[in-house]
Amino acid sequence: MDSIPANRRLWNRISGAYQDEHDPRIGAAPRLWGMYSLPDAHLHALGDVTGKRVLELGCGAGQWSRVLAAEGATVVGLDLSEAQLAAADRAMGATRYPLVQGAAEQLPFATESFDLVFCDFGGLSWAPPHLAVPQAARILRRGGRLVFNVASPWFEACYDEPAGRVTTTLRQDYFGLHTIAEDDGATSYQLTYGGWVRVLRGAGLIIDDLIEPRPEPGTANGYNETDPPDWAHRWPAELLWVTHKPSV
Ligand SMILES: C[S@@+](CC[C@H](N)C(=O)[O-])C[C@H]1O[C@@H](n2cnc3c(N)ncnc32)[C@H](O)[C@@H]1O
Repeated sequence: MDSIPANRRLWNRISGAYQDEHDPRIGAAPRLWGMYSLPDAHLHALGDVTGKRVLELGCGAGQWSRVLAAEGATVVGLDLSEAQLAAADRAMGATRYPLVQGAAEQLPFATESFDLVFCDFGGLSWAPPHLAVPQAARILRRGGRLVFNVASPWFEACYDEPAGRVTTTLRQDYFGLHTIAEDDGATSYQLTYGGWVRVLRGAGLIIDDLIEPRPEPGTANGYNETDPPDWAHRWPAELLWVTHKPSV
């Protein structure tokens, strides 16, 4: 299934409203993961990027990229949507970094050209993982890392579509997870835990950690209103995968 055209159209259409709503939170402080803005300093997923060649896969307005560029990484921001890339261009700080239009399914980069490929609800939520993960693995140098977060299968299985929020009731089959219909014919993707392990290992990657970011009680979901208070303190709303390509 080719979801590239519809996903590009969706993100081009919603980019302006999306950034008006979310950028004040996402861009407010550096290196914050996911819907609960949990600091990388606590989760230890990315670590030091100084001097590293870094690709943000589905960078949106580049809130992460501009921070990592300022920290001394050689960053490239890739996104499918020209409207999102225009937002990243406008938001770029004094440290300029290149923006590339492309799809996570068909990365336009040479083999073994990055030390770190990462995203925060980016290309690995919006491209079929069985295509995007091998592409990411291909462009990593040996020893390089793929780090990314996605919604958890718990979140997807408990999501009440008509209400637009997660509940404490299982709503959807866990084993039915794969494609999620988004607005305007667009598609996002989710795998079971076993599905992610098979896709990552199948691409030759070593799984170093599966971080389940857990907000403290009372921590607001500053991104949207999909979670009742403290839902994500009780169940993991997100998965943060930390993997690397073997050195030999
Ligand atoms: C939720 S945003 C992630 C960016 C940023 N971290 C944020 O939270 O706003 C998802 C991004 O993925 C991009 N995207 C969608 N499909 C993609 C694909 N197949 N390849 C690369 N990027 C894609 C969208 O254009 C969008 O900018």
